[in-house]
Amino acid sequence: MSTVCFLSAKGSPGATTAALLVAALWPRDVVVLDADPAGGDVAARLPGPAGAVLDAERGLLPLLTSARRGLTPQQLLDEAQPAAGGTAVVCGLTRPQQAAAAVGSWPALSAAAAGLGALGADVVVDAGRVTTEPVHLPLLRDADVVVLVLRDDVTSVLHARERLTALQTSLRRPDGLLPRTGVLVVGDARRGDGDQAAAVVRAAGERVEDFGRLPLDAAGARVFDGARTARPERTALVRAGRAVAAALASAAAGEHRRAA
Ligand SMILES: Nc1ncnc2c1ncn2[C@@H]1O[C@H](COP(=O)(O)OP(=O)(O)O)[C@@H](O)[C@H]1O
Ligand SMILES: [Mg+2]
Repeated sequence: MSTVCFLSAKGSPGATTAALLVAALWPRDVVVLDADPAGGDVAARLPGPAGAVLDAERGLLPLLTSARRGLTPQQLLDEAQPAAGGTAVVCGLTRPQQAAAAVGSWPALSAAAAGLGALGADVVVDAGRVTTEPVHLPLLRDADVVVLVLRDDVTSVLHARERLTALQTSLRRPDGLLPRTGVLVVGDARRGDGDQAAAVVRAAGERVEDFGRLPLDAAGARVFDGARTARPERTALVRAGRAVAAALASAAAGEHRRAA
């Protein structure tokens, strides 16, 4: 049982979309945790059952508030709501100030997320845009897999590489282990440039993995933006997502890395 964190370095490459896509295709029971410190958008993007709106008051904010007294995995599960498509979602914060105010609560949240495995669920975390010393670093450090989502243009690649280099240090745990870390490129591969973007970013660290590529597919992305789509499984995004979900599920089941 494991935790997979999606994050971005700069801009809006599609981290939330990728997280929701992978959660929808995950081979085991999964809970989506919207932990973007800048404020979450999953509640606004996914309708609840029968088109109802998800209750944005439930979710991360009450968890971070009560985490000062410790947090059990069951409490985390109790804050999850079923969204359309069957995914269980812990809704995110509504304002960035809430993340900073709860700075001491992130380790307890992270421990509760790690403990969800005993209750039979994996966790897909939308960690949002990550700075060098992010407020939710404990959540990232305790993850089994960290996925940096980027576009394949030059600026996106440069920022991603810089951020991954910094994370190689800040993600190191006291026991010397690091989460499995890798890149997921969003963009249409053009003939000749192969997976250059992934290769350049992977140069940031000896063992930065390549978790694959998602195509630019506006219709597919809208599935994870609240739109009703007749056959989501036929979109290019969902079809490509299957290989990405499989690669991540396999990495999540593997061993952690020992820091060099
Ligand atoms: N693979 C994709 N193809 C086309 N559009 C995408 C794709 N992924 C995301 N988008 C669109 O890009 C915008 C930002 O996506 P989002 O997932 O919110 O990014 P982030 O979480 O990195 O800020 C949204 O409008 C989304 O629908
Ligand atoms: Mg996002």
